[in-house]
Parts: sequence; structure tokens; C-alpha cells
Amino acid sequence: MAIYAPGQNYALPVPVLAPEDELYYSPTNFRTGPSITEDVPSPMTYSQRLENIGHLLRTQPKQYPAEFPDASIVPWSGGDPDTDPEAWIFQLQPEDIAEIDAALKGFSGPKIKALWDDAVNHDGILILRGLDPKRYSLHQNIVLYVGITSYVSVHRAAQTITNDLLVHLRDSGIITGESQYRREQFSGSAQPFHTDFAPIMAMYVVETPLQGGRCMWASGLRVYQELVASRPEVIEVLESVDDHGNPLEAITPRPVLYWDDGHPFFFFSRRQLTGTPLQARPQSIPQLTDLQADALDAVQFAALKHCIRHVPVRGEIQVIDNLAILHSREQFVNGQGRDRHLIRLWLKNEQLAHKTLHVELQKVFNDVFRPDRLKESIWELRGYNSWETLVDESGHSNT
Ligand SMILES: [Fe+2]
Repeated sequence: MAIYAPGQNYALPVPVLAPEDELYYSPTNFRTGPSITEDVPSPMTYSQRLENIGHLLRTQPKQYPAEFPDASIVPWSGGDPDTDPEAWIFQLQPEDIAEIDAALKGFSGPKIKALWDDAVNHDGILILRGLDPKRYSLHQNIVLYVGITSYVSVHRAAQTITNDLLVHLRDSGIITGESQYRREQFSGSAQPFHTDFAPIMAMYVVETPLQGGRCMWASGLRVYQELVASRPEVIEVLESVDDHGNPLEAITPRPVLYWDDGHPFFFFSRRQLTGTPLQARPQSIPQLTDLQADALDAVQFAALKHCIRHVPVRGEIQVIDNLAILHSREQFVNGQGRDRHLIRLWLKNEQLAHKTLHVELQKVFNDVFRPDRLKESIWELRGYNSWETLVDESGHSNT
């Protein structure tokens, strides 16, 4: 080993790498990045990182608008007295239920189409309440759910590697055992704020848990406004693309924050960007920089500040504009026959959803609605998705 003393010029030896070491020592691997393995970030990590990177932040960030062209789309906040989550709820009346009961023969849902049309142009959330899943078999519940949401859209995405049209979000430990690679969404753990991979997300609440499990929703416009007011320097980071991607990886870098005719919106999966203790970020893609990690945490805490914490009611159908709303959930505990079970659909409706989309985003949507995937798609009617969906033994994160 050479010993170097200060003040002397030494020619540093250039190591000759063995071919098998070249990959290990690739420049990508040297980007070790910040410690950001917390799935749900703690305020302490956020403030510590901010303290450490203060010198990297712009003192005079770019100017961003705090208001938007279309005033009918509301940047609501859970903290505003004007925000009325009750207004998102449409209570199905006995005559609606009678119609839905007849739905197993044929259902007309123009009311639902109109309600969603209204929701997507205002707060981005619609809740249909009044069904009692206990009156029906799981198969009948699914038929009703898919029938009712068909008035929002008949275009359903393939959501998983096995092209499931239905994803049963529940603690699936009964199937996976204690597999260390169970994806977090199929456990009872909390989820950080994120968006899903389709323009519209629907959830049917078949059962609620014994404790916890509230849905948390935040207006993307309001989160953006919060960042303009309190952390303007992170916006530029969120709307930029890190182009240090490894060209050998089938991964396309894209922004976290997008613009649609003067309206900003978020589209990202925090888990895919950060990795988690159980599902590490692949070494072959660039690690997050400290600034990127901080910007993601800033989004999380802005969403937390302005979110609504919604207690799901058994039987409700939630329809969420995924390009307007960030969502997350609290951890939950099952027991006493209460086994939290939400069935998810990913939908699109080209007439009503945002029209101008970033080309990379269009690719994401095209992928989940790809005809060959839809041709291979399956309806999982047993109440749990397959092992391949629940568990990722590659140790890589998925949705
Ligand atoms: Fe999600």
C-alpha cells in the first residue's frame, strides 16, 4: 500500500480492473446517494437532510405561479374550513340499490357518469356509498363494482406482471407467509403519498379493518401551492429529469411534476424511486441525489399537511382522479372478522381526463392499456392475487 504525505506529488496508480470488476466499479455504482430507505419518511430524517444540504439549495429559486388558469379545479386542503369531504359522497338511495340489484341483469348509470364528470372538474374525488357487500357473494360484488364503474370508464388497465384487471389490496400474509419480499401494499403497513399508474383509480371497500387504515388524499394543486410558498427551490428538481440513466436498463427517466395547460400535477411512485428496506432500488439505476431525496420528502410533508384522512366505509366505491390527487394510507390491524379488503381498478376516460400528457407519461399509460396485455388479462375472483403479484423475489419494488 502506498503512503501519501501532504505536499508531495505522487503519480496515483491507475488500477487495472479485471473484466468482472468493471461492472461492479461502474460510475453508476459510485453514486451511492443519500440514505432514503424509509418507505414513509420520518420528519426527523427530512429535517436532518435539509440541514445537511442547505448549502446546495438555490437561494433565489425560479418563480412559479401559485394560481391556475381554470379556477373551477380546486386546490383544496384538509385544513380549510371550506373543504367539505361530505360533498364528495353520493349516497345511493333505495331505488338506486334496487336498480343495482337488478344490475345483475342490466344497470343504467347515467347518474354516476354525471357525478364523475362533475368530480373530475372540481375536487377529483367521488365516493358512492350505500352498497352492502355482505348481501352479495364476492363474485357478485365484483360484477356490481365493475358494472357501476363502467359508467366512469370501460377501459380497464392490466395492473400487474400477470395482467390482473383486479387487484385485491389486503394483508395477504395468509398466502405469502412471512416472505420477506411481500410487497408492502399487501401487508398492513402504512404507505407514503404517491400516484398510481393510470389516469383514474377506483377502489371498492369490501371490508374495513379493526383499527387504522384510513385513506389519505391530498390535492396535487394544493401540494404544489404549499411548495411554492414554503419550499420553492424543490419544484425545479421535481419537474426536471435526471438523465444519468444507464442506457442498458429498460428504465426511462421522467419528472415527478408535470404541467397540463398551466395546471401542475404529480405522477410518481415514491417506493420505486427510493426503494425500501425490503425492496432495494436496483444498483444499476442511478441513486437519488440528496436534492432529489429532499424534494420527494418535501412533497410527502406538504401532502401530509393538506390531506384529508378518510375513514373508508364498507361498501363504498371511491373514484379518484389520479392526476389530481396524491394518495396514501395509514397502517392497519385486522381482527375479529374484520379483514381490510379493497379491490382496485385502473381506468382511463379520454373524454374527461387530462388531455395534454407528457410523452413519457403517455408511454406509461400506453403500457398498462397495451392491447396484447389486455388480451392476456385475467379477472382474479378468488379474493387474493397470485404469488407473482404479492411477492417480488427479485427484491425490486413494484407499484
Ligand atoms: Fe396507490
